[in-house]
Amino acid sequence: MDDKAKRETHHTRPPQARQDAPVPGYSPGLEGVIAGESALCEVDEGAAGLRYRGYAIGDLAEQATFEEVAYLLLLGKLPTRKELGDFTAQLRTQWPLPGPVEAFIGVVPPSAHPMDILRTGVSLLGMTDPEASDNSREANLRKSVRLLAQIPIIIANAHRLAHAKRQVQPRPERSFAENLLDLLTDRHDDEQAKAMARVLDVSLILYAEHEFNASTFAARVAASTLTDLHASVTAAIAALKGPLHGGANEAVAAMLLEIKSPDRAERWVRDALAQKRRVMGFGHRVLRQGDARAAIIKRHAEALSRTCGDTRWYDIATVVDRIMQQEKGLHPNLDFYTAVAYLLIGIPRDLYTPVFVCSRIAGWCAHIIEQQDHNRLIRPRAAYVGPPPQAYVPLERRT
Ligand SMILES: CC(C)(COP(=O)(O)OP(=O)(O)OC[C@H]1O[C@@H](n2cnc3c(N)ncnc32)[C@H](O)[C@@H]1OP(=O)(O)O)[C@@H](O)C(=O)NCCC(=O)NCCS
Repeated sequence: MDDKAKRETHHTRPPQARQDAPVPGYSPGLEGVIAGESALCEVDEGAAGLRYRGYAIGDLAEQATFEEVAYLLLLGKLPTRKELGDFTAQLRTQWPLPGPVEAFIGVVPPSAHPMDILRTGVSLLGMTDPEASDNSREANLRKSVRLLAQIPIIIANAHRLAHAKRQVQPRPERSFAENLLDLLTDRHDDEQAKAMARVLDVSLILYAEHEFNASTFAARVAASTLTDLHASVTAAIAALKGPLHGGANEAVAAMLLEIKSPDRAERWVRDALAQKRRVMGFGHRVLRQGDARAAIIKRHAEALSRTCGDTRWYDIATVVDRIMQQEKGLHPNLDFYTAVAYLLIGIPRDLYTPVFVCSRIAGWCAHIIEQQDHNRLIRPRAAYVGPPPQAYVPLERRT
């Protein structure tokens, strides 16, 4: 390919630009495009920030538990006490992993990233699920509950095996967040553990759903072909792993650890910006004026820092935040102060994005069900920017 052809194929310029005509509806990265209807999450740039099925995210974060929010997303209403009890009882029955998934965890290469283990683990759960190919709404709800219960177990079992730690079972008397805390960090019962579990619960509520983000859209694209729920979730996990999406929380923690102390923070950010590097945990495709979820988790991260008697990560974060707003006008997103909270809680860093999955699975499954309830195959068009029509040259005459 000559240089001119390479340049022509590289850019996102639409083909009609060659004839200087705009392409109707062309939006690189689908920015601003309304690609479907959803009753799950409303993005409100005002005080509420987000609403899940009409409920302000701030009210849910302060007053609900993650289990209630998962129920709300999947079943369309906040549960009564009885409904919530039945739902959590159902979750408990699904904790044991199928044999092939346990066996897979036993042969995973030690260097594997937990998101890759999860992607393959969920795919394997699909192969062992008795209702794998039943796409009815009822079967999809049952499969969603199974995934909600089993994803934390896959993550914890794989992590514990890789680090030669004893396996831990979730306990029925504990909440989802309390069990997750114990599974991932061996923390439970004491006062600090209670405070950590509450902040983890808040972060799960904030992570649970966010409209047509990249991973949810990936799930909906897959679901729109009428493939099965596990296949759609596998696609979503693959999309979430990237550092521009779910991988950002892990990258923020790496940054805070690299900065080490608050007095080094300003210099570090200014150097990063001078080198035109992206500072993880800032900016958002949709929430340009700030992310209400970031303000909520920031409050909790600050309070937890005091409870734990360790304000170092929070202090570094606030300096980075100040400089980013001053220099770039960019606001922190949810991942930024979540990383502060997860560092304090002691969640292993490579499990931050998998913890995001433990929560977002509720949103993904609700979207997959919603997509298939009113399905229309998602199949956009591309703006062709390749070479113009050319004559085929037989192999023996090519130079
Ligand atoms: C989330 C994100 C991908 C949104 O990207 P986007 O909508 O495509 O925004 P753009 O890439 O067009 O960014 C607009 C401008 O802000 C800058 N910018 C955006 N996020 C930035 C960041 N985190 N650090 C430094 N600069 C950033 C871009 O370089 C660009 O500047 P320019 O116009 O001078 O080139 C982007 O903000 C980002 O990469 N953030 C870091 C990763 C992250 O935290 N992801 C989690 C999202 S919830």
